[in-house]
Amino acid sequence: MRSSWFHKLSLIFGPRPPRNWLLMCLVSVFVLIALFGSSSPSAFDSASASVRSDIYTNYRRLKEQAAGDYLELRNLVTDHVKDFGLCGKERENYVPCYNVSANLLAGFQNEEEFDRHCEISRDLKHCLVRPPKDYKIPLTWPTGRDVIWSGNVKLSKDQFLSSGSMTKRLMLLEENQISFRSDDGMIIDGVKDYSHQIAEMIGLGSDTEFLQAGVHNVLDIGCGFGSFSSHLLSLKLMALCMATYEPTGSQVQLALERGLPAIIGNFISKQLPFPSLSYDMVHCTQCGIVWDDKEGLFLIEVDRVLRPGGYFVLTSPRSRQQGSSTDAKKASVSTPFEEFTQKICWNLLAQQEETFIWQKTADAQCYTSSKKGTLPLCKGEDVQSYYQPLPHCVSGTASKRWIPIQNRSFGSLSSAELEGHEVNPEDFSEDMEFWRSALRNYWSLLSPLIFSDHPKRPGDEDPLPPYNMVRNVMDMSANYGGLNAALLEARKSVWVMNVVPISEQKTLPLILDRGFTGVLHDWCEPFPTYPRTYDMLHANGLLSHLASEGCSMIDLLIEMDRILRPEGWVIISDKVGPIERARMLATQLRWEARVIDLQNGSDQRLLVCQKPLSRK
Ligand SMILES: *[C@@H]1O[C@H](CO)[C@@H](O)[C@H](O)[C@H]1NC(C)=O
Ligand SMILES: *[C@@H]1O[C@H](CO)[C@@H](O)[C@H](O)[C@H]1NC(C)=O
Ligand SMILES: *[C@@H]1O[C@H](CO)[C@@H](O)[C@H](O)[C@H]1NC(C)=O
Repeated sequence: MRSSWFHKLSLIFGPRPPRNWLLMCLVSVFVLIALFGSSSPSAFDSASASVRSDIYTNYRRLKEQAAGDYLELRNLVTDHVKDFGLCGKERENYVPCYNVSANLLAGFQNEEEFDRHCEISRDLKHCLVRPPKDYKIPLTWPTGRDVIWSGNVKLSKDQFLSSGSMTKRLMLLEENQISFRSDDGMIIDGVKDYSHQIAEMIGLGSDTEFLQAGVHNVLDIGCGFGSFSSHLLSLKLMALCMATYEPTGSQVQLALERGLPAIIGNFISKQLPFPSLSYDMVHCTQCGIVWDDKEGLFLIEVDRVLRPGGYFVLTSPRSRQQGSSTDAKKASVSTPFEEFTQKICWNLLAQQEETFIWQKTADAQCYTSSKKGTLPLCKGEDVQSYYQPLPHCVSGTASKRWIPIQNRSFGSLSSAELEGHEVNPEDFSEDMEFWRSALRNYWSLLSPLIFSDHPKRPGDEDPLPPYNMVRNVMDMSANYGGLNAALLEARKSVWVMNVVPISEQKTLPLILDRGFTGVLHDWCEPFPTYPRTYDMLHANGLLSHLASEGCSMIDLLIEMDRILRPEGWVIISDKVGPIERARMLATQLRWEARVIDLQNGSDQRLLVCQKPLSRK
């Protein structure tokens, strides 16, 4: 039986309103705003100068926004609401902000040309990234974790046959598929052994004890093809793969294709978009970073994101060169790398073959009392960075979140912890209740859409409810991570990229402390991921929020289209105005779109869209 809520919904699924009528309404609204907006703000004469200028700036921005939207709309009208065109074949794997030749032209050098520069590659022309010709809908989870379509990712046969790191050798090719499993189980055991070795090195009996030892959130830098992350996920750890943008053979694209958490990021000149004290373990297997470069700035960044008592695991033949393999233990302490780890209060816990493990101090005093030469503490504790230059100072020591990982408990946060995040426990449980019910609604809404409007694809077996068709979820405005929590509680086999818009950044530490993965992001810019990497995008209140920031809704929706997999879903919840406008754009994107009135007397609406596999 379907819930009565859904029954009601199916009654309100009306036919689409006539497009022209809607356009006319919106255009008139924007014309009115633009007209009234042009009278001078002389009424503010008694306000103080600074307040006035603030009001004026905001007001002017709104006006410009309205005028801009009006122009966008007028273009749409004169074009008879033309659909957006498709990009050329060269953009099949397009990731904005990483155009090296444009960055070089703009004068970036010393590897900074490989950094993220969104201001350089602003797109003037709107086009929709199309999938490669032989793109196929990924296999459902968990099959899709072990077998992917080779046409979906940009790799050449040579790239994966030429063996790279240990994890890279896990790949085998079959006709049009890449398989990550082997019939005899030998290969996967390589990862298991490795994981077991790390556990032993930090003093555990087996890798199943990671969680008890406080290791939950892992940042896997340069994750190869994601097999180590995949193994950690199977142990119920949260492992996020992070690797640089690669035009071909991308680790991030591959991990996401397999349904594993991943994001583009690098160690060049800027901080990672995470708050300090976020990870229990940072892991690098031949991840290509010269750690003792730039006077240790990269190690300082790792230190920033590591929690007290957390581990830095480094596996690379390079470390062996620091001493001959026989007496590496003694020799390693004398290198600049080793000296630097002592400066930042890391203790070399263990070393075996090519693997080194350091532990960050649990004692915040260490940084100031260390006799090994000290680094300054950063000023402005806990201020979250958004791709700020890497600083030459130590962060997080004065944070309320300075709790050794061995003392933390995952699962539900205590009232004390919530209050540490300045969150009222009652608000928090109300939020949880809200998302439980919202999720039930979403799911009862999606199930019939998937299975009645969209007949099964030929060859599919009878699917269970939609959770096996949805794996990579992005909550574009995640607040406390409530949707993520509700999905886990409902035992959906998904993972959620919790994105916190920069103006609401305070909730990201809370999300990470809940054991989820998340990232800070400015939605006026493209998201650091490859095309076709998420099955579902969820945005609650984001459209209204961005309108107040002055970003373009067209840019946002085109970006959403880029990162959404074909046949993937968009759920937008917002006020009726932005929803109507988004629905109009959704039609131009050739998404199937429906507006749903929750019929509870509010002006909140849901917009549910699906991106088609092919567009004419
Ligand atoms: C990258 O930048 C160059 C130089 O500005 C430009 O010619 C090229 O089209 C850009 N590539 C993409 C994929 O946008
Ligand atoms: C962590 O736990 C240990 C042992 O239970 C205790 O001695 C220590 O004070 C705790 N540290 C913090 C910061 O809570
Ligand atoms: C109606 O539902 C929406 C979304 O579920 C919620 O945000 C809003 O507060 C509700 N309004 C009322 C008046 O109950």
